[in-house]
Amino acid sequence: MSIEKVEKLKAAKEKIRLGGGIDKIEKQHKSGKLTARERINLLLDEGSFIELDTFVEHRCTNFGMDKKKAPGEGVVTGYGTIDGRLVFVYAQDFTVIGGSLGEMHAAKICKVQDMALKMGAPIIGLNDSGGARIQEGVDALSGYGKIFYKNTISSGVIPQISVIMGPCAGGAVYSPALTDFIFMIENTSKMFITGPQVIKTVTGEDVSAEKLGGAMTHNSISGVAHFVDSTEEDAINRIKKLLSFLPSNNLEDPPVFDTEDDMNRIDEILNEIVPDNPNKPYDMKEIIKIIADNGDFFEVQPYFAQNIITGFIRLNGKSVGVIANQPKVLAGCLDINASDKASRFIRTCDAFNIPLLNLVDVPGFLPGTDQEYGGIIRHGAKMLYAYSEATVPKVTLVIRKAYGGSYLAMCSKDMGADLVFAWPNAEIAVMGPEGAANIIFRKEIQNSEDPLATRTEKIKEYRDTVANPYVAASRGFVDDVIEPMTTRQRVISAFDMLSSKRENRPAKKHGNIPL
Ligand code: HXC
Repeated sequence: MSIEKVEKLKAAKEKIRLGGGIDKIEKQHKSGKLTARERINLLLDEGSFIELDTFVEHRCTNFGMDKKKAPGEGVVTGYGTIDGRLVFVYAQDFTVIGGSLGEMHAAKICKVQDMALKMGAPIIGLNDSGGARIQEGVDALSGYGKIFYKNTISSGVIPQISVIMGPCAGGAVYSPALTDFIFMIENTSKMFITGPQVIKTVTGEDVSAEKLGGAMTHNSISGVAHFVDSTEEDAINRIKKLLSFLPSNNLEDPPVFDTEDDMNRIDEILNEIVPDNPNKPYDMKEIIKIIADNGDFFEVQPYFAQNIITGFIRLNGKSVGVIANQPKVLAGCLDINASDKASRFIRTCDAFNIPLLNLVDVPGFLPGTDQEYGGIIRHGAKMLYAYSEATVPKVTLVIRKAYGGSYLAMCSKDMGADLVFAWPNAEIAVMGPEGAANIIFRKEIQNSEDPLATRTEKIKEYRDTVANPYVAASRGFVDDVIEPMTTRQRVISAFDMLSSKRENRPAKKHGNIPL
C-alpha cells in the first residue's frame, strides 16, 4: 500500500477528531465543559477506547446542509473498558452543529445500543446536544424514536446510564428518562420538555433555565435525576463506582470484591443507637454505614424524597441494595415521592440480581389531601408491587416502628421477605400506641377521673401487649429478634444462605404495575 494512502487516512481521522474545530473547542472549554473525546478518555480505561463510525456523514441537503460538514456527525461512539469490563459509549459533540441529532447521528447511537445489548455490556450516553437537528425534520424525530425503542428493549437487560453534560431539551430528555440512572452536572446540565421561552409565551410564567431544569431541580424536586456533581470529572468517577455495584447484564451477578472487612464484626454501638423515646429521630444512614463493608454507602438519589434512603453497600464483598426509612425526615413516613423512589430502586436491583436489605422504621403513610389527591394509593401500591414482584433475596430488619400498611410496604414476610429480623425495641402494630389508645380506649379515657394519666397508662398497655416484636415473632412473621450489635453478621449470614435462592413466577407477558 502506498504511504500516501496511510497518511491520507491519518489526516482524515485527525480532522474528524477536531470536531467543530479549535474555536468551538475553546468555546466548549470556556463554558466549563470538556469535549466529547476528552470525556470518553476520562471515562474509559486508558487506551481502551475503540471508535466506530468515525467516517459517518449526514445526508441532509435542506437549508444549505449539503455544504455543511459535520465531522463525526456530532457524536463519538464506540467501546472500551472500565475497570477491565467491557462498556459501550456515545458522547455527543456539541462543537459539531451543537451536537444536534439527525438521522445518521441517531444511527451511530443505535449501532452501539444494538452492540451493547448483543454483547450484554452496559451503555453510557454522554448527552450534550441542542436536540433534534432542525434542518432534518422528521428524519431527526425518527432517529429519537429508534433510540427510545432500543432503550426500552434494553431495559432490565443491560445497565443504561445517561449523563447530562449540557442542554437536553424537548423529547431528547426521554432517552435519558428511559435509562436506569441519570447524572447531572451543576450549572452546565439542563433538562426540560419545554424551555423558559416557550413557557413564557404559553403561560406567561418567568423561570430561569437553571431553576426550570438545572441539576438540583431534577435531583431534589422532580426526582428525574439520580446524581449531581460539581464537575464532569467527579461525575465520571461516580459512574465508575456505580458500575462496580452492577453486573454487566441481567444474566450475570455483580462483581465481588475483597473488601477485607470482618464478616463477624460486632458493632456494640448499634445496641445504643436508637433513642429510647420512640418519637426521637436519629440518622438511619449511620446504621447503614455501620453495617456496610468499610462503612461505604453509595447513595442513590440522596436529595430526593429524603424520608426514604436508597443505595448500594457491600456485605462481605457482595453488592446489596438498601432501602431504609429515614426517621430524621418526615419521621420516616412514606409519601408519593418516597414510594416512587423506592419502587424504582427495588426494580433496578431485582433486574440486575442485587439482593435487597430493607431497614424499617416507619410510622405510616403521610396523611393529607395533597397525598390523597396526588394518588398516594397508586404510588404506595408500587412498593407493594415492586417488593412482591422481586425475586432476588430479600432481608428485612425492623429497627423500630413498623405500623399498618407501611409495615407491609417495607417488605414484611407476607410481601415476600425471605428473612425478617427485628431489634428488641421494634414496634409492629396496626398503628402507633398513641393513636391506637385514642381509638380503642376512648371511652375509658373520657370517663376516667384523670384522662391524661389513663391515656398514658393505656398507651403503655397497648405497647406492652401488641407493639413489640414478640407477637410477630410468635406467629413467625419475624424469623428472629436479634441483638442489634450482631446485625452485620446476621445479615451477611442471611444473604449467604439465600445466595442460591430460585423463585419462579407464572409466565406472563408482563405485569401491570400501578403507575
Ligand atoms: C440544528 C442546532 C440545534 C438544533 C443548536 N444548533 N441546536 N442546529 N438543530 N437543534 C446549532 C446552532 O445553530 C449553532 O450552529 C451551534 O449548534 C451551537 O449553538 P449555539 O446556539 O451557538 O450555542 P449556545 O448559545 O450554547 O446555545 C445552545 C442551545 C441553543 C441552548 C442548545 O442552540 C438552542 O436553543 N438550540 C435549539 C434547541 C431546540 O429547540 N432544539 C429542538 C428541541 S425539540 P453554528 O453553525 O452557529 O455554530 C427536540 C424534539 C425531540 O429536540 C423530539 C424527540 C421525540
